[in-house]
Amino acid sequence: MSKYTRIVGTGSCLPPRRVSNHDMTTLLAARGLDTSDEWIVSRSGISARHFADDGVLSSDLGATAARHAIDMAGLKPDDIDLIIVATSTPDFLGGFPSTACVVQRKLGITNDCAALDVQAVCSGFVYAMSVADNFIRCGMHKRVLVIGAEVFSRILDFNDRTTCVLFGDGAGAVVLAASDEPGVLATRLHADGRHADILCVPGAVQGGAIAGSAFLYMDGQAVFKLAVSVLEKVANEVLQIAGMEASQIDWLIPHQANIRIMQGTAKKLGLPMEKMVVTVDQHGNTSAASIPLALDVAMRDGRIKAGQHIMLEAVGGGFTWGAVLARI
Ligand code: ACO
Repeated sequence: MSKYTRIVGTGSCLPPRRVSNHDMTTLLAARGLDTSDEWIVSRSGISARHFADDGVLSSDLGATAARHAIDMAGLKPDDIDLIIVATSTPDFLGGFPSTACVVQRKLGITNDCAALDVQAVCSGFVYAMSVADNFIRCGMHKRVLVIGAEVFSRILDFNDRTTCVLFGDGAGAVVLAASDEPGVLATRLHADGRHADILCVPGAVQGGAIAGSAFLYMDGQAVFKLAVSVLEKVANEVLQIAGMEASQIDWLIPHQANIRIMQGTAKKLGLPMEKMVVTVDQHGNTSAASIPLALDVAMRDGRIKAGQHIMLEAVGGGFTWGAVLARI
């Protein structure tokens, strides 16, 4: 049995339609709402996001990201023996069947490998990485595809100017493989359901229709306060498990929710902003997709190098949060 899990491939996919803050201003003006590039950038650090066209699903973006990750790993789709998709915008209502099963079909995988979705909203990718790492280390699976994929634009209320400017669509993927060399060094997950209602899609299916709202609701200030404090704590937890200091982190890759939350976390950890991978400015908040998207960008542009240490950390609806510390 292999002792460790290594990241052997990364990939990502953004839908081609780029929507700048200027475009959002025009879109909201048509609804009689005011916003501005200045307001959005100063509150969130976001300058643009991508929106998928009608008919493009999380599985489409996820399968494309997965193909890139599988190629980087030098593998074929049928080498994968477990698929985990983190998403809050599954292809089907209630995630039934799971988006992971749809991705399996779209990748042409016919080896009957297991496939499951993980729901932890913006912490979903970190949750999925931890699940995959534990499956690999217990010997049950050897090559796991972990995907974060979202079409968040589908659950945005474009009459709610505070939330609709913050989110975007996209997908990122990693291939994790069993190894005798250290890769994932520590993972830690948490949740506190007492805060379930500060960030949610409050509707439910009833009698074949949606009862309540099918749009994202967020109490932005409550989310902000909780986020900064739990992110620092969980980052320190994984450092402690791995017996490392924050100064040994080469790259902090936080969930790309909001530059102010990201700056707050880096400051609390004593890390300079130069050590943080930032894509929120161009991607917006892509929920479960944001970390693997940012990871893939920094892998492919050569910033992240073999032997370096990366910290992934996220917070999201539920309330959920978690972190992963890994050596590349
Ligand atoms: N353009 C212009 N003005 C706006 C806009 C907009 N798009 N949205 C709101 N405003 C106005 C409000 O109406 C309000 O005006 P008023 O004072 O006249 O009433 C003013 O701006 C301030 O509104 P607040 O809601 O108090 O704004 P706040 O400073 O709290 O910023 C924000 C809102 C950006 C959402 C902030 O609370 C925040 O960053 N929260 C964290 C959100 C987050 O990152 N969530 C995701 C994390 S978890 C996950 O990823 C799912």
